[in-house]
Amino acid sequence: MIVCVCNNISDREIRQAVDLGISSVAELHRELGVGTMCGKCVSYAREVLTEHLESKTVVTELRRVAQAA
Ligand code: FES
Repeated sequence: MIVCVCNNISDREIRQAVDLGISSVAELHRELGVGTMCGKCVSYAREVLTEHLESKTVVTELRRVAQAA
């Protein structure tokens, strides 16, 4: 699904950017151009970013538990 219509940036591209180390809307803005035109996408882009960051945190915690056992 397209998140930023002005720059044709999808939720998948935002998740891929998070996987590559992006962790803030400011970085999405700088690296992908999210929100650089009308700005209407910023709140949804933040939601996609936050959800994916949180999902990555859960996986890291599960791996730590598995290693400790
Ligand atoms: S929809 Fe992202 S800048 Fe317009």
